[in-house]
Amino acid sequence: MVRMRRLRMKETVRNMVRETTLRKEELVYPIFVAEGEQIKNPVDSMPGIFQWSIDRIDEELERVRAAGVPAVLLFGIPKHKDEVGSEAYRDEGVTQQAIRHIKKTFPELLVIADVCLCEYTSHGHCGLVHEGEILNDETLELLAKASVSLAKAGADVIAPSDMMDGRVEYIRKALDEAGFINTLIMAYSAKFASGYYSPFRDAAHSTPAFGDRRTYQMDPANGREAIRECENDIAEGADIIMIKPALAYLDVVKAASLATNYPIAVYNVSGEYSMVKAAAQNGWIDERRIVLENLTAMKRAGAKIIITYHALDVAGWLSQEE
Ligand code: PBG
Ligand code: ZN
Repeated sequence: MVRMRRLRMKETVRNMVRETTLRKEELVYPIFVAEGEQIKNPVDSMPGIFQWSIDRIDEELERVRAAGVPAVLLFGIPKHKDEVGSEAYRDEGVTQQAIRHIKKTFPELLVIADVCLCEYTSHGHCGLVHEGEILNDETLELLAKASVSLAKAGADVIAPSDMMDGRVEYIRKALDEAGFINTLIMAYSAKFASGYYSPFRDAAHSTPAFGDRRTYQMDPANGREAIRECENDIAEGADIIMIKPALAYLDVVKAASLATNYPIAVYNVSGEYSMVKAAAQNGWIDERRIVLENLTAMKRAGAKIIITYHALDVAGWLSQEE
């Protein structure tokens, strides 16, 4: 008889045949940076997550360092928003200042800068708006300006999350022309128009004032189209492609990992985090077990890099297991 259970009898053998493992070297921790002073605002829908002003952010960065998480993904929350998202590409903008601060105080951290307009526009859309339409080509120029400004501030990785067509090519060209030939691009390639982003929109104040994002973010029903998005971004010069959200889209992660040899990142988004946290706080699930199981599933599907609000906890749990 074929006895599958032989491989499961002893922990030594189970450890030996385990196909997928988590490494803290592959984790990215998102941080919200708010313009202003003395800010440590809890995000109600995301227990354990805060908005930080730069004068207090070292407290959070010390935790990142202590956990051994190597990378942060920054989201800026400006005081001033306008129609064209000016603060996104101002050299003295809150995100640019945060990057300069981190590079000075925590030089070993890999700094990834999210590039989008929605946190900076008064209408909350990811691109310029004209008569209710989100403009594509006119937006590219601003995304490129933001990218160069963030690279100049010291960002190691530029992560465009706007879902405009042609942006990776446009940003790559602008970075190269400005001399940032080694600045990486991690493209939010297959980003779906998802209900799982709502806690993030509370945290980043980026809910669209009218309509929704369905004319630029992907239809959750489309898996084949997601692969075209990944292929396009690779052709345009992306170094790393990203699938977002993670859990409901692991089939897309798997398909992308079979379709390309480029590194794949997944974004374990705010709503995924909040659901786990809420259930854990109620005592309905074992948080550690569920989080490790979820993240392992992402890697099993083919993800290399995991962006997650659980990163510091996970790194701590992994260290305990060592
Ligand atoms: C902005 C952006 C969003 C997220 C990352 N970048 C929100 C959105 O598109 O509405 C979502 C992250 C999360 O939910 O954790 N373009
Ligand atoms: Zn956006």
